[in-house]
Amino acid sequence: LANGLAATPPMGWNSWNHFNCFIDEKMIRETADALVSTGLADLGYKFVNIDDCWAEISRDEKGRLVPKNSTFPSGIKALADYVHSKGLKLGIYSDAGYFTCSKKMPGSLGHEEQDANTFASWGIDYLKYDNCFNDGSKPIVRYPVMTRALMNAGRPIFFSLCEWGDMHPALWGANIGNSWRTTNDISDNWDRYNSWFLEQTRTRVYAEYARPGGWNDPDMLEVGNGGMTKDEYIVHFSLWAISKAPLLIGCDVRNVTKETMEIIANKEVIDVNQDKLGVQAKKVRMEGDLEVWAGPLSGYRVAVVLLNRGARRKVMTARWDDIGIPPSSTVVARDLWQHKTLKQRFVDILTATVDSHSCKMYILKPIS
Ligand code: GLA
Repeated sequence: LANGLAATPPMGWNSWNHFNCFIDEKMIRETADALVSTGLADLGYKFVNIDDCWAEISRDEKGRLVPKNSTFPSGIKALADYVHSKGLKLGIYSDAGYFTCSKKMPGSLGHEEQDANTFASWGIDYLKYDNCFNDGSKPIVRYPVMTRALMNAGRPIFFSLCEWGDMHPALWGANIGNSWRTTNDISDNWDRYNSWFLEQTRTRVYAEYARPGGWNDPDMLEVGNGGMTKDEYIVHFSLWAISKAPLLIGCDVRNVTKETMEIIANKEVIDVNQDKLGVQAKKVRMEGDLEVWAGPLSGYRVAVVLLNRGARRKVMTARWDDIGIPPSSTVVARDLWQHKTLKQRFVDILTATVDSHSCKMYILKPIS
């Protein structure tokens, strides 16, 4: 969407994956504080996004959305002021239907202009727009109404389309939003995640449609929520990064562990995601449970993930032919999880041993 936003995929935090409907203004403020004190904000995680359940079930007498008095008594404007004072941005959630997915608050269908103006007046910077309880019309009919309302509201607001990929939003999303969900909801579980990622054809098939201003969105991160091993979370984070997915942390950053920080605060991996070229990687080879993912970066570099989804450790190979490096080129490899530039120089292939449910991630730079 040509609103000047999202030159690179958005980074921040969202309440849903960890907190579900159990949110309030205190924990949102504490989350903003934690993003700053942990250094995550400096790494680019700027959006503090409130998901479902922040509003009363009834609008006020003028039809406006009302922040839930029991949990957001100071209102959203005060919260936005606080978040902004920390150098961060505040996101909020609504729905292109009569209710949001929790059914605990109203949706914006029929109130688009009013709600966009309310969000702008509060100082909102990001809107996630869900698709539950709609009137049965196509998203491509309902979503642009909110796009126009936001464009007219006098404040740049990142617009995140959340219709779960049903209507192939990559094909039309770039003129309507800054990102579009390509899948149903993620879960914090390797087996479900694994099959779920296999079903992620919609993220991969539409790789070409991602570009600065509009990104495929395979849903928010689960890293740190406890349902997967460290290696599995490294796979999750690596694939999101190389796929130019939004990096929206979904754990409780107020109590973040060292192990989680080693993943979500890996600047080298974040830099792949935020590279200015903005080209989404593709799965370029698949042999059973072994997958090679690759995509170009600025400066004639290539980012590569060697992913082993299988039960046994395997030797894997990245071939220049597959990953878009000219034949016979000599390459320097940086291992982004070991934080090491490998001493060896590589010609035509790079081979590595990859543990079960694990991956290697490199930046390859041809030097001759
Ligand atoms: C849908 C979305 C989720 C979350 C919930 C909130 O399921 O896909 O990301 O926003 O609604 O109810």
